[in-house]
Amino acid sequence: MNISVRSQYQSQIDFDGQTFKAVGPLSLLNRLQEMKRQFGVDPTKWSFNVPKTNDDFLIHELICAVQKKPALAYAHEELCHCRMVPAEKVHQALKQGCRTVNEIARTTLAGTGCGACRKDTEKILGELSTASSLLK
Ligand code: FES
Repeated sequence: MNISVRSQYQSQIDFDGQTFKAVGPLSLLNRLQEMKRQFGVDPTKWSFNVPKTNDDFLIHELICAVQKKPALAYAHEELCHCRMVPAEKVHQALKQGCRTVNEIARTTLAGTGCGACRKDTEKILGELSTASSLLK
């Protein structure tokens, strides 16, 4: 297994199935060490709260790649282009209790234009709903 994830901030994590190689700020390396200490060296067993920092998003991307799951959009990325709603707003709506695409649309306006982003909202909803701890 050779997995490599890279952020737009030039941070990178490579995982060959046994060892990690990370390039990036000290905060990323510390966060990676913390995950290994907390969950062990096998990222298929790692779980994550809603990522908030760029380091966390990169580690989240690694976990999703290893676990063959779709990764969440980076918090600052625009999820809904019609209403200019960043993914972070959708994450917050989920944490506040929204559990359907329509509830998210009412709360954030994401999906109330052309509707193209509703599939992405569903994906986030599905991803976060599978781990109840993410919604606490
Ligand atoms: S992209 Fe969200 S409604 Fe059009």
